Amino acid sequence: MSLSTTTAQTPPPIAPPVKVRKHNHELGCPVLGCTGGDVFSPSLVVGDDSYRVALVGEALGETEAKTGKPFDGKAGFKLTRLIEWAGLKRELFDIWNVVWCRPPENKLEGTDYEQAAVEWWKPYWRPLLSRANVVVPMGNVPLCAFTGRKGILRARGYFMEGDSGLGLGGVRLLPTVHPSFIQRGQSKYSAAFIHDIQKAVGVAREGMQFETPDYLLDPSPSVAYAWAQDYRKALQDAPTIRLAYDIETPGKDEDESESDEDDPTYFIWRIGFAYEPLRALSIPWEPSYIPAIKLLLASPGEKVVWNASFDNPRIRHNGVEINGLIHDGMVAWHILHSDLPKGLGFVATFTCPFQPPWKHLSTKSPAFYNATDADVELRSFLTIETELKATGLWSVYQRDVLDLEPILVHMSRAGMPIDPAVREDRAIQLAERQRTTLDSMTALIPPEARKIEHVYANPPKVIEGLLSRQTIKKVPICSRCGHHRPRKDHFKRFVRKVNPCGEATVTLQQQEVAEFYRLQPFTPSRLQLMTYQKAVGRAIPTKWDKKEGKRKPTMDEKALRGLVVKFPLDKLYPLVLSFRELDKVAGTYIGRPTYKE
Ligand code: URA
Repeated sequence: MSLSTTTAQTPPPIAPPVKVRKHNHELGCPVLGCTGGDVFSPSLVVGDDSYRVALVGEALGETEAKTGKPFDGKAGFKLTRLIEWAGLKRELFDIWNVVWCRPPENKLEGTDYEQAAVEWWKPYWRPLLSRANVVVPMGNVPLCAFTGRKGILRARGYFMEGDSGLGLGGVRLLPTVHPSFIQRGQSKYSAAFIHDIQKAVGVAREGMQFETPDYLLDPSPSVAYAWAQDYRKALQDAPTIRLAYDIETPGKDEDESESDEDDPTYFIWRIGFAYEPLRALSIPWEPSYIPAIKLLLASPGEKVVWNASFDNPRIRHNGVEINGLIHDGMVAWHILHSDLPKGLGFVATFTCPFQPPWKHLSTKSPAFYNATDADVELRSFLTIETELKATGLWSVYQRDVLDLEPILVHMSRAGMPIDPAVREDRAIQLAERQRTTLDSMTALIPPEARKIEHVYANPPKVIEGLLSRQTIKKVPICSRCGHHRPRKDHFKRFVRKVNPCGEATVTLQQQEVAEFYRLQPFTPSRLQLMTYQKAVGRAIPTKWDKKEGKRKPTMDEKALRGLVVKFPLDKLYPLVLSFRELDKVAGTYIGRPTYKE
């Protein structure tokens, strides 16, 4: 394995900002028929603390055309929020657009004037490009302006070299999605945007790490067998190492999970393996390689696969056993970021920061493509494992996904659906764990952050499980002896005896008394968590509600993860995340017990 690192050379002093200029006809864009009222300007960092990262959008919108500042309207508001969530400062980014005026009806992407408009404005980028170590094209229009191709969702998060066409040489790009895209109901991409700009700032500051993979592609069967023997030796020395594997089949569809004998995907073309980062093997699935494949997959060591329900039945169908504990990286990722896409090409941008794009190479370089898949799977899983452990979610993955795999395998091999009894048993166990998690959470909530379900007017006979507080109340007393809450017969007049209180009456006296009350059971609902935030004197997180057009309090997964980072000593937030995960696992993988509680 060789890993070379280059650090950016000391950057040249930053070029002075281009002055904000009112648009005039001389500089007008004839392509878009700009009028004198249109305005353009980049927004550039003035001081030395610049991140040296340029965030590059499409063209001015309505507000921007009025104010002359890029990203000054709705998209700009979103951009600012995203930058803040990333823990960065907007004013330290250079922000500009590839087109510096407002296109007719705000439309540029896909129009027949898109390319001409971009070309017309290119010369104006010249002074800006030398200021940035990393350029972040946001969306398809700037991506295409620098690379000549579209497909931002595939390109985002990957470093690539672009060409401005200005004869300035290569531009280091890190494309990401446009803030407006996130705003239009794709809020799950916020995490990707935040991750991308953090990565851009990191690389602009510290330089790029070039990772050189060492892949063994289509060696002879005996060399492949020797590689497998090396793995077995390494496993003996370090029994915890993981072997990642990935198969390539015709018409592979990642979402396909049904076993079907006629399915062409049951024919395996090749298989890739990796047990050390940046080292991998890819071999054809042919009889002469089967001994090596068997030696690898039959080992007792732990395995890693991406979407086990696709690869495993196909491997077994082709007569090869897989031993050892099998980790499904895709499921582990889903537990970590349930709202994000699960494809390896997407996940790699989070887990392998310097991995170049490879998903386009499946036809051109199938062996390299396959080896990269195995390598990226391994590296991704190792990162996901670390993150699951850091967020307290590893046990959820381990007990509720990993432990279930052998049962699933056994059942599907026997051609049976999962035994209902096994499922029920798992569901009961899971419900039990949810209950314990709930108890641990409840113990952490101060009474003042709990809702009161019932206040007893009179002290109840059974006070177990109730709380009491001192309060001033008007208490009925006997006007003569002061007896509390006298009953009717307290004033009874007798024939032979004198009742000293016979003439007395009931009066109300203000007194400090113990009042008993019952709390509502704690559930980690949004409202109860908001009450907790108030009780412990912490701000309630908010998020933008598109429907209502304003920010609203939230206690969603993202907000909770933010709180875990902000308040690492508070045990409640990880428990809530874990409880919700258990709930999800119960709903998605196992089911809920049928008994009524
Ligand atoms: N959208 C862009 O791409 N740029 C702006 O400046 C505003 C909205």
